[in-house]
Amino acid sequence: MNYEELMHKAIEASKQAYCPYSKFPVGACILTESGNTYIGCNYENSSFGMTICAERNAIGTAIVNGDKKVKAVAIYSPNQDNCTPCGACRQVLHEFCNYDNDMDIIVKIGNELKVYTLAELLPESFSL
Ligand code: THU
Repeated sequence: MNYEELMHKAIEASKQAYCPYSKFPVGACILTESGNTYIGCNYENSSFGMTICAERNAIGTAIVNGDKKVKAVAIYSPNQDNCTPCGACRQVLHEFCNYDNDMDIIVKIGNELKVYTLAELLPESFSL
């Protein structure tokens, strides 16, 4: 699975977003050490704080499948280039950096992919 394919899955996932309030669809696709992929989209709630981001939706599916070693996450919104994870999602993703102690975060800028590391996006991170 290359990062173009991973991004393609994130793009497809964004089409399932439930975002009647923000009208900001997001899709994510996680790649684990095993080579499996798990998609997620954001789903909002009329009680706004209950909204779940695409990344957290995807990670939950990886976990319930027993796949906790995350290598990379592709994130996509048709509304915004360089759609990096929100602060809360960075912390949640950090919990599952147990492959190589880091993970790649892939976003789209125009027709190009940009690859960050989570360590770049969440420096001096907290963990127990
Ligand atoms: N959103 C995500 O799904 N992931 C992020 O990292 C940023 C924000 C969603 C939440 C909400 O449904 C919409 O985008 C606007 O904030």
